[in-house]
Amino acid sequence: MHVLAIIGQKGGSGKTTTALGVAVEACLAGRSVAVIDLDPQTTAANWSDRRGKEAPAVVSCQVSRLGQVLEAAAKGGADLAIIDTPGKSTDALIAASKAAGFVLMPIQPQLYDIETLGSLKDVLTLAGNPPAAVLVNRAPVQGKRHIETQEAATAQGFAVCPVVIFARAAHGDAGNIGQSATELDAKGKAAQEMAELYSYIAIAMKEGRHEEKHISRRA
Ligand SMILES: Nc1ncnc2c1ncn2[C@@H]1O[C@H](COP(=O)(O)OP(=O)(O)OP(=O)(O)O)[C@@H](O)[C@H]1O
Ligand SMILES: [Mg+2]
Repeated sequence: MHVLAIIGQKGGSGKTTTALGVAVEACLAGRSVAVIDLDPQTTAANWSDRRGKEAPAVVSCQVSRLGQVLEAAAKGGADLAIIDTPGKSTDALIAASKAAGFVLMPIQPQLYDIETLGSLKDVLTLAGNPPAAVLVNRAPVQGKRHIETQEAATAQGFAVCPVVIFARAAHGDAGNIGQSATELDAKGKAAQEMAELYSYIAIAMKEGRHEEKHISRRA
């Protein structure tokens, strides 16, 4: 089972939107997906309640239970576990990053978010430096802020996801009704960007650019 952690310290940077968007893409690609919601705000779990569908499975869990919940997901046949984290809990960010084979860090293209990259580097160090990439999310369609932000992250020594997720109303509208932007408008730009993001993650996993965590399904 592959484990993807979505981390970030800034509230509202798009961790949950990314986790759920990627989860739905993976389901559409035929994967069995478990989203593990470490956030006491339970945004992902509430989304799943509104959704009323079995896939992706969303489990709300405390940080201290992450290992057991990942084992259960693997035993239950999940191909991919996606961990959504609460920005305010460094413990949760470290635990999720330690458990993950690949870590994605969504940030908005603004200084307030870029300033948090230093502490995210510390989190990754404490987690043993798993493969990780910064994702620019909610970028204004006009202007070059996304490129400047990618350059700022690169200058700080981070790998940067080449796919940019732009600010699109479909993300919020879809979340309100327990869907992803892709489900709301499969031909829209938000859907296209999320599909590209999933391809990037899937290729990184396939090419072994991240280490697969060997959590046995039969353990
Ligand atoms: N690319 C985007 N385009 C438009 N709106 C977005 C985008 N990404 C996120 N949003 C909106 O921004 C808000 C915050 O997003 P989200 O809840 O995913 O952030 P978060 O990092 O999980 O926040 P928290 O730290 O509170 O858990 C939501 O209303 C969401 O719909
Ligand atoms: Mg969230």
